[in-house]
Amino acid sequence: MLALIHMKGKKVLIGITGCIASYKILHLIRLLVKAGAEVQVLTTQEALRFLSPLTLSTLSLRPVLSTLETEGRWNNHVDLANWADVFIIAPATANTLAKMVTGQSDNLILTSYLSARCPIVFAPAMDRDMYLHVRTQENIDLLKKRALHIFIPPVSGSLASGLEGMGRLPEPEDLFLDLKKALSPKPFLGKTVLLNSGPTYEFIDEVRFIGNSSSGRMGHALAQALVEQGAAVHLVSGPSHLPNPRGVKTQLEVKSADEMWAACAKIHPHTDFSIFCAAVSDYKPKVPQQGKVKKQSSPLSIHMIPNPDIAHALGKEKKKHQIHVGFALEDKTNLEEAERKRKYKNFDMIVLNTLKEKEGGFGSPKNKITLLKAKTKPIPFPLKTKEEIAYDILEHLQSLLPT
Ligand code: C5P
Repeated sequence: MLALIHMKGKKVLIGITGCIASYKILHLIRLLVKAGAEVQVLTTQEALRFLSPLTLSTLSLRPVLSTLETEGRWNNHVDLANWADVFIIAPATANTLAKMVTGQSDNLILTSYLSARCPIVFAPAMDRDMYLHVRTQENIDLLKKRALHIFIPPVSGSLASGLEGMGRLPEPEDLFLDLKKALSPKPFLGKTVLLNSGPTYEFIDEVRFIGNSSSGRMGHALAQALVEQGAAVHLVSGPSHLPNPRGVKTQLEVKSADEMWAACAKIHPHTDFSIFCAAVSDYKPKVPQQGKVKKQSSPLSIHMIPNPDIAHALGKEKKKHQIHVGFALEDKTNLEEAERKRKYKNFDMIVLNTLKEKEGGFGSPKNKITLLKAKTKPIPFPLKTKEEIAYDILEHLQSLLPT
């Protein structure tokens, strides 16, 4: 079974070379340390013109190493390279890329690079024309072909030189995800997934709606874990105040169940598996009113009709190679009802959670679930964060995928 990829205890070697974008690495170090990773920073001499060793060592909780020896003591690049679970060289200048290609070893980053056998994540950042220069591009192509090398392309935007274009270092949160991806096993590599998430809003008039308090947190946690584990994720999201998950293939934002149905139906035929995590409204007003309904002294009745049941409808279309996972929110733990839903909706697995859970459930960061699969005893889990639950669900989903 797949181990949960937390950054806790992971050993991350960071090589910073001389480039203004290095300021972003300060925040990356914070993210890693907060997530429980051990961080060792190496820099070139040029990098120290941009960042102070005191800042780097304070944030990383270790002395920063910038020379082959410190106060007469050799900084053992072999030990550093063997210690690391992953080595990220970011920002990687054109100079460092060229030296990595030719195998030069005139500083601690390069000697450690030549000794490393862990994944090497390299993220070039430089001025646009320098990045597009044929020699830089050739060097990147050569490095990409090397085993265990993971290229993080720069992004386009305004550059320190004043020019616009390619060459910016990605944001620290993106680099953090790249590191998690580098460390994760990839059971879903090459797999395409439809994931719906969040609430739906069913409009009464042009400003009012009937909705529910789903935050989209569980869906976002699933999206993130799937991305880390190699899946191409198509997220269909109802309204959510959460920041968009990073690295998904497409994200379609919808409001009503009808819109969610249309988006899911389009994607579904091209998928290997689907996760129906959305809290879809069961009913919608038959005729949404134009404009804003005026206040009256008499009671107001709204004629509601059923919404499409997305999971049930797509369950009928499910092909042999496709796997479906659904959710059931019940008032209390009701295994029979969850199993009935699993069969009715043609789910291979259903995630049962209950409303009456203290500290958990709708809109909360935590939840307590039970997994139900065909021909298997229900699998209960303790109260966990939704991020942890996402990994648990994916671990069990793996066993359902055709081999
Ligand atoms: O019947 P119930 O709403 O509890 O079923 C929950 C499961 O069905 C969830 O996976 C949810 O995403 C899905 N569902 C749906 N369309 C609806 C109602 C629920 O896809 N209209």
